[in-house]
Amino acid sequence: MKKELTILSGIKPSGELHLGNYLGALQNFLELQKDYNCYFSIVDLHSLTQTFTSKEKSKQIVEMATDFLALGLDPNRSTLFIQSQVHEHAELAWIFNCITSYSELLRMTQFKDKSEHDPKNINVGLFDYPVLQAADILLYKPAGVPVGIDQEQHLELTRVIARTFNKRFGNTFPVIKSIPSEIPKVMSLTHPGKKMSKSHGAKSYIALHDEPKVIHKKLAKAVTGDINSPGSQNLLQLLKIFSPGAYREFSSQKEISFKDLKESLANAISDHFSEYREKKKELLKKPDEVISIFEDGAKKARAVAKDTMKEVKRKIGLV
Ligand code: TRP
Repeated sequence: MKKELTILSGIKPSGELHLGNYLGALQNFLELQKDYNCYFSIVDLHSLTQTFTSKEKSKQIVEMATDFLALGLDPNRSTLFIQSQVHEHAELAWIFNCITSYSELLRMTQFKDKSEHDPKNINVGLFDYPVLQAADILLYKPAGVPVGIDQEQHLELTRVIARTFNKRFGNTFPVIKSIPSEIPKVMSLTHPGKKMSKSHGAKSYIALHDEPKVIHKKLAKAVTGDINSPGSQNLLQLLKIFSPGAYREFSSQKEISFKDLKESLANAISDHFSEYREKKKELLKKPDEVISIFEDGAKKARAVAKDTMKEVKRKIGLV
């Protein structure tokens, strides 16, 4: 029944994935693919808005494709594809550009943040980013979009664009729901007041492919403090997710030994991703196979995207 409902999400290829990416997005995707008709896209065109080199770009795309498969996203259940391989995304984005107001885009907080972060590279693509995102979504007319809460403003713009289009040209696009991931923010190991991200250096995050030895080392150095400090709470929260039994034991103790807790957490995380690490190593040996799986996905996606574009062109009067 639910399989009739379509879900779509996208993730930028940005190199190695860390625990924050996994708990905030990918773990959710793995659950959703069981029940829904899912489209999961590697949004490489979006990633071009940030400074990059061509060599690292193709590596990042292949690595993300490999990660999708190694984590268990299943091409037989879901449509897995690379955004740039479905031309309709860019095409619909242009049409949406022409019904989106400039002042609306100026209000986007992500645009403001990214412009401040990299003032030398405030490109038009960065400004237009949310319109391309609306096209990604609406091409497939999904019921819902699983994303982190930081994306809510972009989803709201997607709703505005859908409403504007429907009003001017007739009912075409659904007004989508966001499906927020239930997992609270994962914090940096070294700067626990901040979200886990790669910008604080390799010691601040656990990459999903980190070997057990590395995980132990990074956790051993993780900043803690008294029990209510952000660092301690972050580790407790992670233990609750990766080893609920150990979490119950530790939280019933009067005085928690964080040295022991870190050991226990490191073991739990290492175990959780052991199958993934093996699969990833295997898949990285055959990148052509990985890409060909995504090309098949692009074919499936294109079939749907093409129909939407046909309808859009007809409705707006392109001949
Ligand atoms: N902007 C999203 C992010 O940074 C990525 C994204 C692009 C996306 N297109 C999308 C997410 C479509 C959901 C649906 O996380």
